[in-house]
Amino acid sequence: MKDLKDYSLLKHNTFGIDAKCRRFIEYTSVEEARQAAAMLTDEDRPLLILGGGSNLLLTDDYKGTVLHSGINYLKQIDEERVKCGSGYDWDRFIDYCVTHQLYGAENLSIIPGEVGASAVQNIGAYGVEAKDLIEEIEAVEIATGNIRVFRNEECEYSYRQSKFKKEWRDRYLITSVTYRLSKNYAPKLDYGNIRSALAAKGIENPTATELRKTIIEIRNAKLPDPKELGNAGSFFMNPIVSKAKYDELAAQYANMPHYTIDTDHEKIPAGWMIEQCGWKGKSLGNAGVYEKQALVLVNLGGASGSDIVRLCEAVQKDVKEKFGIEIYPEVNVR
Ligand code: EPU
Repeated sequence: MKDLKDYSLLKHNTFGIDAKCRRFIEYTSVEEARQAAAMLTDEDRPLLILGGGSNLLLTDDYKGTVLHSGINYLKQIDEERVKCGSGYDWDRFIDYCVTHQLYGAENLSIIPGEVGASAVQNIGAYGVEAKDLIEEIEAVEIATGNIRVFRNEECEYSYRQSKFKKEWRDRYLITSVTYRLSKNYAPKLDYGNIRSALAAKGIENPTATELRKTIIEIRNAKLPDPKELGNAGSFFMNPIVSKAKYDELAAQYANMPHYTIDTDHEKIPAGWMIEQCGWKGKSLGNAGVYEKQALVLVNLGGASGSDIVRLCEAVQKDVKEKFGIEIYPEVNVR
């Protein structure tokens, strides 16, 4: 187990913010996670349970304890189920599935981050969400050291939401996630430009490997590589608005993209609204709105967490003024 004082989190957040934490603990097994939980006192609070740091904005040095899982294994437990340690790299899991003819995860290729966070954040892309694959989650309860197993249904998953972000926040150290894949290949190709990207390569019925490769190409063309330009993927969530609000806007903006949630609700891409506000490719100090995808805020070099927050607030204000819609960060701002 690692237990370090005044530790720099620079390598632990893809925004590339150089902030420190008072204490950093990393555990590499369930037993070590239990020991870590037992070590914590009131002095350690507030806690920050960190995954790959790909969805985190640190606004300042962290005046508390950061906990990180280094539990790093993948085990196929039967024909369709794979159990992964919470510190396992998400895309290595997807790669395993695709190369072992386990289907359903292809569209979630190349999302940065770790397995544990997939269960907290319900990561999603191209019409698939982590919740569609998660069967159960094993975690250590910090207060008692007890091992708990949560079924998918207990976690109240919805768009980028779960109980781990609400009433269970900072209460559990997730140690593993068990996913159920399928032996039957049923590719989901209807979201956004997947079909057109495949067609451009002359592919109509892609294999899982071809689909994974195409998803990776689409993402790499739109999303900046954190190694080159600090970022945390989509900075904002796409707002879900009432059908009445949507109708009002659709009458004004004929080309507004949208996804129907149900008969009363529509989801409007925040990236589109931000672009309409003129922010795409613009910056405020060292914080910028990415030139190829306005939903992504980037560290243009040496930005502090508060520089990014300033840009976030300016964008929120303009979207509110122009569209009458509040947008909220999907990144964890700490
Ligand atoms: N759009 C614009 N301008 C922009 C960005 C987007 O007009 O600058 C339009 C696009 O043309 C498209 C629509 O908005 O019509 C949606 O764009 P896109 O398909 O790129 O996806 P998104 O809604 O911006 C969401 C997820 C992404 C995920 C993609 C694909 C959220 C917060 N983000 O983005 O997830 O990869 O869909 O499924 O839901 C992430 O969470 O970090 C992430 C990257």
